[in-house]
Amino acid sequence: MRKKIIFGNWKMNGTNTEVKAFLKLVDKKVKNTDVVAGLGLPFTALQTGVKKAKNVKIAAENVHFHQNGAYTGEVSIAMLQEIGVGYVIIGHSERREMFNETDQSVNAKAIALLANNMTPIICCGETLATKEAGNTVKFVNAQIKAAYKTISKEDAVKTIIAYEPIWAIGTGKTATAQDAQDVCKAIRQNLAKIYDKPTAEQMIIQYGGSVKPANIKELMEQQDIDGALVGGASLVAEDYIALINYNN
Ligand code: G3H
Repeated sequence: MRKKIIFGNWKMNGTNTEVKAFLKLVDKKVKNTDVVAGLGLPFTALQTGVKKAKNVKIAAENVHFHQNGAYTGEVSIAMLQEIGVGYVIIGHSERREMFNETDQSVNAKAIALLANNMTPIICCGETLATKEAGNTVKFVNAQIKAAYKTISKEDAVKTIIAYEPIWAIGTGKTATAQDAQDVCKAIRQNLAKIYDKPTAEQMIIQYGGSVKPANIKELMEQQDIDGALVGGASLVAEDYIALINYNN
């Protein structure tokens, strides 16, 4: 039985003061033992997040794949580990679109994180044009194949996939639960081809894109959706609490 893994992604939001106040409200509300609750935070708020969260897992929103060196403005895996961060969101569509993240860099980051016992949350998802052309599954499967290149099945099961259709991010347009299920099922079938069925069955596939308290239950009821990566709604404490306790 796969656990539900529900993470917020605060993107470029959240001062240390705001993160501290938020966690004071939400951390004690992690009551649902079937759900792993987490929060992606900007680099500057990670240490506060780790210190203030007892129950909420803290994720970075990016990392560099090199160990160290002349990469001005970048943050390494060792820097995140030193402050106790265990998860990193990689390949988010905003980073792919605006900051030159590629399938190759996502793969390099996933490999580096796994080598350091950290959990990559690997994002994938199609544009509206790709969806309208009927190429969603082909496109997403290619992203997954590239992201997992040379990664063993033993390591693959330690990762999390977040399927986030770009047209549903921050737009209020959620994929229907059935549409999201169909793509997540196709991703799992693809993973079964890359690895094998037992491996694919163990892997966590989140859905992201305008998830909110009103629609999370139906999404989580889908067979191949194992959690959510939530942007906007995760910024509001009341909504975050409702999301992580969707079945209580
Ligand atoms: O990482 C989260 C996604 O980009 C979804 O954002 O919930 O604001 O649509 P959203």
